[in-house]
Amino acid sequence: MYRTDTLERPWQDHADVGEASPDARFTDVVLNRRSVRRYLPEQPPLATINRLLEMAVTAPSAHNRQPWRFVVIRSYQEKARLAKAMGDKLERDRMADNDDPVDIKNDVARSFARITGAPTLILLCVTMAEMDSYRDADRSRHEFCMATQSVAMAGQNIMLAAQASGLSSCWMCAPMFCPTLVQTTLNLPEDWVPQGMLTVGYPANTGKPFVRKPIQDVVVYLDEAPHATSQ
Ligand SMILES: Cc1cc2nc3c(=O)[nH]c(=O)nc-3n(C[C@H](O)[C@H](O)[C@H](O)COP(=O)(O)O)c2cc1C
Repeated sequence: MYRTDTLERPWQDHADVGEASPDARFTDVVLNRRSVRRYLPEQPPLATINRLLEMAVTAPSAHNRQPWRFVVIRSYQEKARLAKAMGDKLERDRMADNDDPVDIKNDVARSFARITGAPTLILLCVTMAEMDSYRDADRSRHEFCMATQSVAMAGQNIMLAAQASGLSSCWMCAPMFCPTLVQTTLNLPEDWVPQGMLTVGYPANTGKPFVRKPIQDVVVYLDEAPHATSQ
């Protein structure tokens, strides 16, 4: 069961308080952020983008090693080069899956338009250079997971800071599916492994409707049992 009616959101009251307390401002930013996939052509000022990155690096990280790395792409040529390389790979993969060539062509074109149509791209990478090393695969995997969790937290900070600055954003997972290709195309250091990419710009629409599972479907409370005499 999904709830799409914002009026039914039990936490909405907090966003509706008139005079903005710090909490109300935060709630407003969190509640109103939507993934936006179409932007106005105007480029956000570099100072604003840098402010988003400053917010990104305040995120918590495993061992405080800050394993995030960012690539800011604002040049159309670089965006187009990346979009073309990723589109070619998408086409190869989908052809190997025997997908309908017309669908593939449309998807590749849509992906190119989305990447080149975003004023700013922020590629989110993880580096394991300063993370702990283990001899066994299990702990190595967990360490890598902690690093990528840290990068995701930085990414969320960027998205919220963008929202607070009048910008919108959307996370694109595609670079994660072709990390080496992205590294080569953008000439990145070997240890900068792409995890995702944020498109950022002034929104041209409001994004898709808000859809979330009800809280009670995703939370288990392990409360103290009510005291016998208090009932
Ligand atoms: C890890 C991650 C990967 C995502 N990848 C994509 C993507 O490749 N393309 C896309 O259009 N949206 C992508 N999204 C955005 C989600 O579709 C979006 O957050 C979700 O539908 C909820 O909508 P909202 O962000 O507007 O609340 C991704 C989000 C996350 C967190």
